[in-house]
Amino acid sequence: MGMFDDMLKADESLFKNPVALDYDYLPKLLPFREGEQRKIAACIKPLFQRRNGRNILIYGKSGVGKTAACKHVLKELEEQTDKITPIFINCWQKNTSYKILTQICELIGYRLTHNKKTDELLKVVVKLLNKESAVLVFDEIDKVEDYDFLYYFLESIYRKSVILVTNHKKWYNELDSRIKSRLVAEMQEFEPYDLKETAGILRQRILHGFYEGVFNEESINLITNKTYQLKDIRSGLYLLKEAANIAEENASRKVELEHVKKAIGKLDDFKIKNSEDLDEDTRKILHIIKNNSGKKIGDLFKVYQEDGGELVYKTFQRKVKKLEKGKYISVNKKTGGKDGTTSILNYDNTKLTDF
Ligand SMILES: Nc1ncnc2c1ncn2[C@@H]1O[C@H](COP(=O)(O)OP(=O)(O)OP(=O)(O)O)[C@@H](O)[C@H]1O
Ligand SMILES: [Mg+2]
Repeated sequence: MGMFDDMLKADESLFKNPVALDYDYLPKLLPFREGEQRKIAACIKPLFQRRNGRNILIYGKSGVGKTAACKHVLKELEEQTDKITPIFINCWQKNTSYKILTQICELIGYRLTHNKKTDELLKVVVKLLNKESAVLVFDEIDKVEDYDFLYYFLESIYRKSVILVTNHKKWYNELDSRIKSRLVAEMQEFEPYDLKETAGILRQRILHGFYEGVFNEESINLITNKTYQLKDIRSGLYLLKEAANIAEENASRKVELEHVKKAIGKLDDFKIKNSEDLDEDTRKILHIIKNNSGKKIGDLFKVYQEDGGELVYKTFQRKVKKLEKGKYISVNKKTGGKDGTTSILNYDNTKLTDF
């Protein structure tokens, strides 16, 4: 046996299909969420008879399959009929009525959006969607800055199911009563997966993503336990990927326990990187807040500048606001003292672990 037989050659990889480990990869099957998907489907069902559908609020912690389940249902719907228009909007990316409307126009192939104001776009979209029926999913709905579109859709689209997805159930309680009374949404909680379910999901991803034998039982169990503890499938996917990367860096053909342990050590890093929706500047600011939790905003801005940050204070403040809205940090106002009123910023990693 040659000396290098056990080592990975430079052009070899442990990954059979890296895409299968992406966070937004949609597996063909979504086990353990059949009940939840059926409930969503039941809300949509009346649309098949050209009746109005029901609306539903989906809530639960991060990484429990809410987005995946909605996308799955939309995909099946698309395969079944072209009489119901499926719309999926990520409201973190599209966080105003205007952005949401232009995105819907793009999805339904309406191109004459140029120079049109929000009001005009609202009318166009409603008219087009009223030709048939529509299922409208607004993922991360709590990130939206104005709810004009929602009010108007609920009022004016005749045959629809509106599906709202959030991490925070209490968002719904605080919703404008004019919207709430029109929404009358059913509720569907997504509970975290139990240990067995977590194991099933991760094993399925290993099967798709890696060559046979890359992961041994010990490594899989450690990753499963850690993922179960964090109650977030996304951190499991991160650990699978990162452990395999570390194994590759060490030219190992197999992921060993030590690689998994190193990957677990990097998890905290991941939590910030994982906030894919945040731009690089915002992520950098979040990093600084995390390492200096409990400090005043002015002092944090100084740290940011010393760290080579180039944004002006106003922009910095705006990004801090965004982090607060996204519940990555919490802000406490402190009055008195030599600075008058100042904001104290606290890092809040509840976004990914505990709500
Ligand atoms: N039942 C499942 N089977 C297979 N993969 C799953 C399942 N549930 C979740 N996943 C995978 O876990 C990852 C996270 O799921 P998803 O994006 O749906 O979480 P989420 O509940 O929307 O989280 P967030 O609140 O952070 O948006 C995705 O890659 C998804 O494919
Ligand atoms: Mg989601």
